[in-house]
Amino acid sequence: MIKEIVVYPDRRLKLVSKEVEIFDSSLHTLLDDMYETMIAKNGVGLASIQIGIAQRVLIINVPVKSENEDVEIQSFENTLEVINPKFLEQTGSTTYTEGCLSVPEVFEEVDRYKYVKIEYQDRFGDIHLIEDDEFLSIALQHEIEHLNGHLFIEKFSYIKRKKFEKEWKKRAKKS
Ligand code: CO
Repeated sequence: MIKEIVVYPDRRLKLVSKEVEIFDSSLHTLLDDMYETMIAKNGVGLASIQIGIAQRVLIINVPVKSENEDVEIQSFENTLEVINPKFLEQTGSTTYTEGCLSVPEVFEEVDRYKYVKIEYQDRFGDIHLIEDDEFLSIALQHEIEHLNGHLFIEKFSYIKRKKFEKEWKKRAKKS
């Protein structure tokens, strides 16, 4: 089921999400709803707090190039489901232009670690390791930030953040 996205400055986005302890059908329904919502909103990643559920659950759609290299395929098969992630390593640095479904139409460069290594559980509770130093690394850092009650806009410089808040208020008045 497609869910409504929790949008900034909703205070729920500041909640620290709780560890998942039971890997049952309600977790699977949550993951399926998150997938449908992410696809419907054209997102590449989603944390469960973004649909109002404060659990340490996130999904990332890892783009896979098709054979002719022109189209990026989005499918359930290349969606990574990450539960209870823990950083084992974070090294290097990079900048990446990010956006967020909870802060729509805002795209800004933020600083991130280049390489991350993470331990996480899948929807059945099995433990996996993943490491990356490209898109997936950035996406994991962005989504795990949501689980800890933080947003990418907090990484803006003071001036960029001021400008963002001003424009955001202006936009809120219009709608
Ligand atoms: Co986000």
